[in-house]
Amino acid sequence: MVKNDYELIDIVTGYQPAAVVTAGLETGVFDALENGPASLGALARSLRADEGALHALLESLVRLGMLRDESGRYSNTSYVSGRIAGGGPMASVIRKEALFSAAWQELSEVVKTGRPVMQPWSDRVSSDPKTARSFLDALDVLARATGPYLARLSELAPNKTVVDVGGGLGTYSAQLAMAGSRAILVDLPAVLEWAADVVGGIAGVTTQAADVFEHPSVGVEQESVDAVLVSHLLHDLKPNQGVELLRRARRATKPGGHVVVNDFAGDSGPGAFGPLFDLMMRVETGGAAHSLADLKDMIEEAGLIDVQRADFDEPLTVLVAQNPRGG
Ligand SMILES: C[S@@+](CC[C@H](N)C(=O)[O-])C[C@H]1O[C@@H](n2cnc3c(N)ncnc32)[C@H](O)[C@@H]1O
Repeated sequence: MVKNDYELIDIVTGYQPAAVVTAGLETGVFDALENGPASLGALARSLRADEGALHALLESLVRLGMLRDESGRYSNTSYVSGRIAGGGPMASVIRKEALFSAAWQELSEVVKTGRPVMQPWSDRVSSDPKTARSFLDALDVLARATGPYLARLSELAPNKTVVDVGGGLGTYSAQLAMAGSRAILVDLPAVLEWAADVVGGIAGVTTQAADVFEHPSVGVEQESVDAVLVSHLLHDLKPNQGVELLRRARRATKPGGHVVVNDFAGDSGPGAFGPLFDLMMRVETGGAAHSLADLKDMIEEAGLIDVQRADFDEPLTVLVAQNPRGG
């Protein structure tokens, strides 16, 4: 509950720390400090930056806990060194959020019209492949954290044949293969070329190019696999499109096989996470973060039964459902 002006001001200036972190990356501060601690003057010269503005940026980064200032010499914290600087994995997450923050400036318009700001994904892949690839790089980083949870599900590993539908760079496919399953990564042809960087050479992963909204059973033969993983796809879709995708996923599984949905429910926590993620989808794709009840309804409408929620902490929302035997 917001109780006073200071708390409100904290909320409405939330864009500032985000911009400071993005500037730390984009101006090259984090990378430069990997060469060792540096003074303001030395950094301003090497980065060709305005000394006064750079000083304000460095001091903000110190107060945000991302740099240290020891007697006028700045250095990266160990987190920044390990996860951001020098091409660290969180750099792609920072770039993704910077891209979206520009789109969020149009939020009022999105709320009025119900239309997203960004182009459809297939257009983004062809018109701006660099940014599209960078977006998938960020999802790869985030999926590396979730993958171990999915690999724990007996419906997905070990010794299962699993379709990773719209699997992006194939992070989950790689993790399921490492857990002893065979994964078939299905995605658009251009995306699969990029995925070779992640899954190329992993014996348990094969790739299959397909448009999963065209193919009747998400790119593989009907009743050919033990399970289909539908990860972070439903939130890009309207409920009727989601049901259709789930129906195609069900058709791919053997009778008694499973469809596993990994998503973020719009009514999940912690805090405002679910509703904010819902808005993100409306700004970005025109989809929505469906509520837990709506996700369950969509799964059942697709002809799947026995929907169970895996016991993982929020915001992870993982639902496991079965293709009826003889169904
Ligand atoms: C939000 S990403 C999710 C990636 C991954 N499943 C994850 O959980 O991180 C959506 C993925 O679906 C793929 N995709 C979108 N439309 C598709 C289509 N019509 N056919 C196949 N894949 C598609 C995109 O290329 C992208 O890799």
